Amino acid sequence: MSIDVSESLGVAVLASGSGTNLQALIDKLHLVPERGVRIQCVVGSKAGIGAVDRAAEHRIPSHVMPAGADETWLLDTLESSNAGLVVLAGWLKLIPPGAVRAWRGRMINIHPALLPSFGGPGMYGRRVHDAVINAGARISGPTVHFVDEIYDNGAIIAQWPVPVLESDDGEALAGRVLKVEHRLLPAVVASFARNSFELGGDGRVTWKEPWFEHEVFDLIPNASQ
Ligand code: GRF
Repeated sequence: MSIDVSESLGVAVLASGSGTNLQALIDKLHLVPERGVRIQCVVGSKAGIGAVDRAAEHRIPSHVMPAGADETWLLDTLESSNAGLVVLAGWLKLIPPGAVRAWRGRMINIHPALLPSFGGPGMYGRRVHDAVINAGARISGPTVHFVDEIYDNGAIIAQWPVPVLESDDGEALAGRVLKVEHRLLPAVVASFARNSFELGGDGRVTWKEPWFEHEVFDLIPNASQ
């Protein structure tokens, strides 16, 4: 069956780092036309980052934010991308209020901990996972949420649990969470393309179908038998 690309969801990905989440979106969605998602462009917060190289490898147009670029630059770049969804995949800058307004309900972020804990200004990279371990939390995991005017604050779309092990340091925990990010983010983007959830007027997310597929939170295997 041929796919009508005009009906697929165009996505703009904003990244500041190595872009492994971008790669997951490329591998699981962009390169699989039947998922109905294509990456229209990648916006890098600076030159020389891995995410921009990954875009080039797949001939995805990319833009590097010029030093001192203002809100208008971001608004124009996103508007000209013809995207229907903006994904922040390791984007470290605060999105200016005008861009939040323009893309409300159509701009999402992935954070490597279970919000509303362990988020906010300065909570990025290894610091997040060190904070989880220092707090003695036993479960962590990624959160995908809509973007609003405050860091890591918007309505939660989906989360997935990842255990914190006794032997973990921040790096080990970061690696375990990142593997799950690479599954959760493409799943959420594919769900957005199917119109499976939306941001409601009450500021919360409504799902029209279960947000996880064929998975069981099985703490004690066979306990019910
Ligand atoms: C991820 O842990 C993501 O949750 C956070 O930044 C990291 C980006 O990693 N927002 P990568 O650039 O996708 O490899």
